[in-house]
Amino acid sequence: MTDIKSTNITWHTSNITKEDREKLNGHKAVVIWFTGLSGSGKSTLAHAVEQALYDQGCRTIVLDGDNIRHGLNKNLGFSPEDREENIRRIGEVAKLFTEAGVIAMTAFISPYRADRDTARALLNEGEFVEVYVKCALDVCEERDVKGLYQKARAGEIKEFTGISAPYEEPLNPEVVVDTGPETLEESARKVLAYLQERGIIG
Ligand code: ADX
Repeated sequence: MTDIKSTNITWHTSNITKEDREKLNGHKAVVIWFTGLSGSGKSTLAHAVEQALYDQGCRTIVLDGDNIRHGLNKNLGFSPEDREENIRRIGEVAKLFTEAGVIAMTAFISPYRADRDTARALLNEGEFVEVYVKCALDVCEERDVKGLYQKARAGEIKEFTGISAPYEEPLNPEVVVDTGPETLEESARKVLAYLQERGIIG
């Protein structure tokens, strides 16, 4: 639970609504929340989806774990409390982008169900698209793109997701991809198909 320290503050409403911006942009503004193990392909998939959306004229942004931890969240580590705060801030930032009419994609492990649900609860029904980027642990470990699994196995990194810290699978994600057997194009197509079915994009 985050301490509330702000007092005597007043909410100011913008003259231009989210709906106005969506009309201008020609698509809905939603959060696409990619969750999965390190090395599962969240960022790669988010960027592939973004490219496809950009090519059809959508306004987008990708918020990526490693990048955000260089700036906004550089004071946070990987304890359960810090991960909770990491995801809380990202949820709020992603929501701000939707208010600006943008399709915001987030690529964070976000291992705790409760934290993902907190991010979901910030948005209206249908505005939070949880994409479970499934990938077997041994496949992620085999890829070991950043060499972190090897370090985690050697005990050089503590609380590493999948090795010495938990990953709670989504129970009811809007989309599930499996980057083991699927190609990047196949996984991206699944996400894009969902957006089309729901009328989020044209
Ligand atoms: S989250 O759990 O809080 O959502 P986030 O997605 O921001 O994590 O950051 C994960 C990235 O940080 C990993 O892809 C990896 O590159 C790096 N990392 C460093 N230490 C850890 C750790 N202990 N557990 C998981 N990822 C780690």
